Amino acid sequence: MTVFKSQRVSYYYFVLALLLFGLQVLTGLWLAANYAFTIPQGIVDIFHFGTARSFHTNLLVLWLLLGFMGGAYFMIPEETNSELYSPKIAYIQLILLALTGVAALIGFSFGWTQGTPLLEIPPLLDILVVIGALMFLFNIGMTLIKAKERTVISWTLLAGLLFLSLLYLFGHPFYKNLSNEFYWWWWVIHLWVEGAWELITASIMAWIIIKVTGVDRAVVEKWLYIEIGLFLFTGLVGTGHHYYWIGTPEYWYWWGGIFSALEPLPILLMVWDTYTHIKDRKNEIINPVVWTYIIGSAIVHFVGAGIWGFAQTLPQVNYFTHGSQVTVSHGHLAFFGAFVLINLTIFYYAIPKLKGIERFKSTLGLWGFWITNSFMFIMVLAFSAAGILQSYLERKMGLGYMTAQAEMQFWFQVVLVCGIVFFIGTVIIIYDLLSLKENKAEA
Ligand code: HEM
Ligand code: HEM
Ligand SMILES: [Fe+2]
Repeated sequence: MTVFKSQRVSYYYFVLALLLFGLQVLTGLWLAANYAFTIPQGIVDIFHFGTARSFHTNLLVLWLLLGFMGGAYFMIPEETNSELYSPKIAYIQLILLALTGVAALIGFSFGWTQGTPLLEIPPLLDILVVIGALMFLFNIGMTLIKAKERTVISWTLLAGLLFLSLLYLFGHPFYKNLSNEFYWWWWVIHLWVEGAWELITASIMAWIIIKVTGVDRAVVEKWLYIEIGLFLFTGLVGTGHHYYWIGTPEYWYWWGGIFSALEPLPILLMVWDTYTHIKDRKNEIINPVVWTYIIGSAIVHFVGAGIWGFAQTLPQVNYFTHGSQVTVSHGHLAFFGAFVLINLTIFYYAIPKLKGIERFKSTLGLWGFWITNSFMFIMVLAFSAAGILQSYLERKMGLGYMTAQAEMQFWFQVVLVCGIVFFIGTVIIIYDLLSLKENKAEA
């Protein structure tokens, strides 16, 4: 049962996010097929790799952001002990963002793109995204200002969301020179995932932990302070791990190398802190699925970002692996562990409550968890194998790009097979969450 009526708006954010998740994974299959086989030219001419890739990555960003926004609309009323400032703004904002997303996808298909990976949305549509973000921040901000209670968790969440929105502005193309352009592009990409999004994830983690374990707020908040401090300390200067080879000064080898090598620390701390709270829990487990997802998220976040990221963050290694399938393997596991699983955690916590279900057990939810996690991991191993082969053949042996690609095809066939099973897991999760029936008796 939800405590506040206005929390309902979050449900529609979750539904849209889930549907886009399905579409995103489907486009991933198409990408893998392009590497695994030679696609007939007639098909490539209609829907080529570049367009599919922009679908895949922009859908990822869009659905994760919708999930975070829905999550904030669900958490903030409970954290501030008050209704949202305006549910109406929240609905208008959702419609605006959904229409912008549709326009962007249609645009990409016809070559209307800004070109910068993951942020291909052209400047005109960027304005609509910014308006949507402003509506969202205004709504959350006003709720906080008018509220009776303001907690560390709600401030952290707002800070992360504000930081995220400000950084988005650096993705606007101001420069003619590609080096300059990419220098700032990293402010969005890196400082998003290793800065702003980490703050948001940390506050959602902390909140869910308090809710499901009943551990004292003061203890959880103490960890939250340390983690945020460390995330910012390592992540801000850690941006340098993207500045090695784009024409920036040489001192970035050192700054980038050292600070980004420290980045796994806050993530490891998060695993430890989650484990400690769960061990000391005071509540009985009334939603075992949330439990599984939150532990999974902490662990896969650490493996994907902390281990796979660390493995290629020193300039001595990055010299060989830069922009190869080794990068892609890390991109998948880190995004999946840190942000996909934290989104699914909040969906599995919030959606049953929004449907008036107090005790929630779901076999499908657990199946979905294990299928997606196992096959994502095998897929990432296959990407890694392809990437190591690529680094060796291209960078060490000096063979041509296409010669290396031919040798890598087998591993992409493995990626494709894993991807198909992963997609089945995704469909199970989406079906499970969307087919929950309203529990009138308990509500
Ligand atoms: C949840 C957190 C993280 C996410 C979602 C993430 C995601 C990504 C993605 C998608 C890329 C590819 C960008 C591109 O070239 O288009 C990337 C690159 C990179 N990441 Fe991460 N990352 C995370 C954390 C980390 C951490 C903690 C480290 C270091 C310890 C790290 C090290 C790197 C490095 C060195 C590259 C550049 C690889 C190259 O030269 O091609 N990442 N990351
Ligand atoms: C069926 C499952 C999936 C398959 C087969 C798949 C496949 C691919 C392929 C082939 C690429 C292109 C890599 C390149 O440009 O060389 C890609 C890019 C990407 N995908 Fe997926 N994907 C899947 C699911 C996902 C999921 C669930 C996520 C989020 C966790 C994700 C996040 C990304 C990211 C961040 C990139 C850009 C990577 C980079 O630039 O380094 N994908 N995907
Ligand atoms: Fe980075």
